[in-house]
Amino acid sequence: MTNKLIPLKIAGVGYSVPEKIITNEDLKELYDTSDEWIYTRTGIKERRVVCGEESAIDLGFKAAQNAIAKAKINVEDIDLIIAASSAPVDLYPAMACRIQAKLGIKNIPAFDVTAACSGLIYTLDMAKAFISSGMYKTVLIIAADNNSRLCDWEDRSVSILFGDGAGAMVVTQSDDGIDDILSIDIRADGSLGEFITLPLTGQNCPLVEPCEQKPSYVKMNGKEVYKFVVKVLPEYIDKCLKEANMKAEDVDYFIPHQANQRIIDAVQQRLGYSDEKVISNIKYYGNTSAASVPIALAEGVESGKIKLPSTAILCGFGAGMTWGVAIVRLREGIC
Ligand code: UT7
Repeated sequence: MTNKLIPLKIAGVGYSVPEKIITNEDLKELYDTSDEWIYTRTGIKERRVVCGEESAIDLGFKAAQNAIAKAKINVEDIDLIIAASSAPVDLYPAMACRIQAKLGIKNIPAFDVTAACSGLIYTLDMAKAFISSGMYKTVLIIAADNNSRLCDWEDRSVSILFGDGAGAMVVTQSDDGIDDILSIDIRADGSLGEFITLPLTGQNCPLVEPCEQKPSYVKMNGKEVYKFVVKVLPEYIDKCLKEANMKAEDVDYFIPHQANQRIIDAVQQRLGYSDEKVISNIKYYGNTSAASVPIALAEGVESGKIKLPSTAILCGFGAGMTWGVAIVRLREGIC
């Protein structure tokens, strides 16, 4: 007996970013840096940061509402919520549960995935597995991060890079037999874990030894991350294109994780893509971790750079190290 896999539809995509903008010029108040250094090394001019009590949960909630509106579904139709972030706001309750409560949905499963900046691709792969097996019909995936709370704002090599934001996707069973996932693959290599870390140090029991409060910030070996990604990503994208029976020129857009403009440029060159095909908004948002791919997608449509219907290569990479690629069909009206 063969089990027929159910095709998946990307039904809606939304995003949300905080109002507050911090420019490269503003950062000069914190340490010795310049707009020129930051822009030439990273392509970043400014980033958005949360203020007051605002967090990735609020951003994720708004992104989810936008994706649900685009998908034209009711919240009651959602069977499962998966939230991805590099660092959830709380270890528990899960971000997915917090957003579930804000959406007013009860009695469905909701959980978090930490796959760093590959989070959207990881959760899309999981949604595909759940939907194609027939286990769930409608899955809400949310990618949200508030990195600005986790950076050491005295470390100029890391804190310049990150910004806050959220993206969300509603994925459902396809109603026309067409599968919007042309190819998808996720990977990890834990032996490279030290490249990017955010330890949750905690404290030993004071009866064991005196407590020492250790600060916990994002640490990154930027050079090693850069070398790894530029080496691995182009060949990996080629492999995913082959699996989709496509050539690079068959795909309309490349929507990569927004980590560094030089990484995006290097992969663009390997794909032989013109600037029109490559979606980059790192200049205005910095690296929003798990959220960067859905923000780039939804904002790219909103700004008119991405035309629908079309096809796109989505790719993420980050701490773990994790990485993933999805080649997808983008239908009219999804963002
Ligand atoms: O989603 C996570 C994925 N992460 C990434 O993709 C990160 C990839 N890597 C990078 O983007 C780059 O490695 C960085 C932009 C983070 C750093 O660029 P780099 O060319 O690797 O610079 P570096 O860290 O080697 O620093 C070069 C110099 C140093 O000075 P000396 O030692 O040569 O005198 C730094 O102290 O630049 C100095 N520097 C700065 N100067 C001005 C470091 N940060 C700054 C700064 N402003 N903000």
